Amino acid sequence: MIDLRSDTVTLPTPAMMDSIMHARLGDDVLDEDPTIHELEKKSAELTGKEAALFVPSGTMANLTAVLAHCERGDEVILGDQAHTFLYEAGGISSLGGIHSHQLKNQDDGTLTLNDIKNAIRLDNVHFPKTRLICLENTHNRCYGFPLTIDYLNAVRTIANEHELLVHVDGARLFNASVALGITVKELCKPADSTTFCLSKGLSAPVGSLVCGEEGFIHRVKRLRKVLGGGMRQAGILAAAGIEALDTMVERLALDHKHAKALADGISRINGLQCDPEFVPTNIVYFTLERGDINGVELVSLMKKNGIQFFEISPKRFRLVTHCGIDAAEIEETLAMFSRVMNGLS
Ligand SMILES: Cc1ncc(COP(=O)(O)O)c(C=O)c1O
Repeated sequence: MIDLRSDTVTLPTPAMMDSIMHARLGDDVLDEDPTIHELEKKSAELTGKEAALFVPSGTMANLTAVLAHCERGDEVILGDQAHTFLYEAGGISSLGGIHSHQLKNQDDGTLTLNDIKNAIRLDNVHFPKTRLICLENTHNRCYGFPLTIDYLNAVRTIANEHELLVHVDGARLFNASVALGITVKELCKPADSTTFCLSKGLSAPVGSLVCGEEGFIHRVKRLRKVLGGGMRQAGILAAAGIEALDTMVERLALDHKHAKALADGISRINGLQCDPEFVPTNIVYFTLERGDINGVELVSLMKKNGIQFFEISPKRFRLVTHCGIDAAEIEETLAMFSRVMNGLS
């Protein structure tokens, strides 16, 4: 099966399995796991933050970060296509009592600076208190676009003017860094906090990091415990994470190249529409432009022929490249799309 559903389907590499076997372990809830300490120290250094905390998932990373920044009744400004808004089960609201103010995401994953400025509440008893701006880098629903340092700095300036905090959901932060040719540390400078995932393009089996100031991370740690995310010999997971950070970052450029090749090929297939200019990292969106077949049928036909991907909305699909997909499989996928589309006509 060529599995293009997500970069979350990636499996640990043999080197990761080996590092798991040999990891030094302790009870991390008692703060005694040396491998977790190593991963957290490395993550803080990479992001240029004072501290970092390992959590089980990207969802818990965002939830604990937002809850650590905000009081109940505070408002967070975020995009209407943000993962935190769409796909995290409304946790910031149901568990944190935090009000979300959704702004339209532009195609490149940004919120316009004017929209942000206009969304900031006046100090008035009728209004919730604006506390936090949440961004996503790269942006999953917005073609995998990375947010540029100029944009991040501009948002930082607005935040400073209004004494707001900035959080970045960096589930694919390393894809952004590789695509922009800029260090993760520099990309994180304008943000008070960032998360990143080990278990997406970096191919580790489990886990995400929350990074920020010491006091903030202390609050995140308490919240992680509240949510049942305190784990004991979690070093077996951290060991794979360290290996991922050491060996899996630079190769993300190859996933980006493969995604572009997929987009180029799809753009030449009759009945499919895809713009390679809108494929900056490892995510490819395309649409089906034929009336005689629906999206479910296309997905099912391709699956029957060994290729898996998701229909995101009617006749709109997403393919995600990752280390489990090589150049030959990109070619195979394109050949199968051609065959299936031709066979239908
Ligand atoms: C942008 C973004 N943020 C957060 C998450 C959540 O990560 P997890 O699935 O580990 O909870 C995802 C997952 O795909 C994501 O794409």
